Amino acid sequence: MAQTVVMGIGGGIAAYKSATVCSLLVKRGLEVQVLMTEHATHFIQPLTFQALTKRPVVIDTFAEPNPAEIAHIAIADRADLYLIAPATANLIAKLAHGIADDMVTTTALATTAPVVVAPAMNVHMFEHPAVQDNLRILRGRGCIVIDPASGPLACGYTGKGRLAEPEDIVDVVMAVLGRSRRLAGVKVLVTAGPTVEDIDPVRFLSNPSSGKMGYFIAEVAAAQGAEVTLVSGPTHLDPVPGVRMVRVRSTEDMLNAVMAEVGSADVFISAAAPVDFRPVAKSPHKWKKQDGVPVLQLEVAPDILAAAAKVKRAEQVYVGFAAETHNAVAYGRDKLTRKNLDLIVINEVSQEGAGFASDTNRVTLIGADGFQADLPLMHKRAVAEQIIDCVWRIRGQKLGGPDAAGDAGR
Ligand SMILES: Cc1cc2nc3c(=O)[nH]c(=O)nc-3n(C[C@H](O)[C@H](O)[C@H](O)COP(=O)(O)O)c2cc1C
Repeated sequence: MAQTVVMGIGGGIAAYKSATVCSLLVKRGLEVQVLMTEHATHFIQPLTFQALTKRPVVIDTFAEPNPAEIAHIAIADRADLYLIAPATANLIAKLAHGIADDMVTTTALATTAPVVVAPAMNVHMFEHPAVQDNLRILRGRGCIVIDPASGPLACGYTGKGRLAEPEDIVDVVMAVLGRSRRLAGVKVLVTAGPTVEDIDPVRFLSNPSSGKMGYFIAEVAAAQGAEVTLVSGPTHLDPVPGVRMVRVRSTEDMLNAVMAEVGSADVFISAAAPVDFRPVAKSPHKWKKQDGVPVLQLEVAPDILAAAAKVKRAEQVYVGFAAETHNAVAYGRDKLTRKNLDLIVINEVSQEGAGFASDTNRVTLIGADGFQADLPLMHKRAVAEQIIDCVWRIRGQKLGGPDAAGDAGR
């Protein structure tokens, strides 16, 4: 079945070029559903897109031609990708701040498909800090922004602001669509969250890991078609739809679950924060104040990554995390080699906005193949997408198949 691209068109001069984009997408065999802002209709007629796509163009959120469905939800659900081209400064601002006051922006909030935005505007508008901040917000959320090109602009200025070439926009759309099922048949094992080591029936040793990073990785891998098993320590997060959950409590439990699964996995991503030290013995009764101050004797808890490394096969891709408070990159590089990993995700948890409970993270990715990327502060879901991109690339290298270099770098 053909994939569906929903195409939102904003009210800028480049709206005329979106007819070429639309036509090229149709020629690639895609179903294209066009949505326009009211302002876009000042620049180009909806009839053009209706003729190109053989579908009615939707402009009015409240038109609701089919009583059996709510148009913006039905269209959002059908989308394999949502492309907004041209994206006006106004649309970019609304998307960044979750405003949903027309069909284009309401559908953008309702879709779970990847969103690709192609801005086009006057150079001063594009360089305005408000526009740049809004684009940063969108990129940080995992939205793909196709930078405008430089050159003479319709407003008479020369500079950056021209809509990217229609062929380039279509190339990005095809690359993103291609990756949407690229992990079909690949078994991915992910660990997430903290582990808990009981001291007595009401007290324990643990850490503040929320599990969000691992859950987002599981979600992104599943969205790309992988068969995902998520071994999770105790968290407050909802299960990830379509992902097999194995719930564990102690580091020993997590070790056993990982060792039972890792042999059949193609990819192992160790995003959990297992407790490193555990009490030698658990008191069967609650320790009372009258009993005096307890003396806790600790021992080293099992090293899950080290155990998994011992059974690693050459074609498997292993990813580890290093959460450090200082010298993070140096320590991470060392861990990459010591634990026989293919990729390490390093984060300095002492930095603002990076680390355990936060929704954002700033990480450095280092591959055993020499790859290194210092990512800016971004939402953990966007970090998860970058990690899965690397996994896919490394897997391609290992298998040496035609997919190895086919991702257009995205
Ligand atoms: C002739 C003309 C050309 C315009 N070109 C652009 C443009 O290229 N990019 C842009 O962001 N805004 C442009 N604008 C301003 C937008 O049309 C305006 O901000 C509008 O509110 C955008 O609405 P929309 O985002 O709902 O489509 C232009 C306005 C006019 C009158």
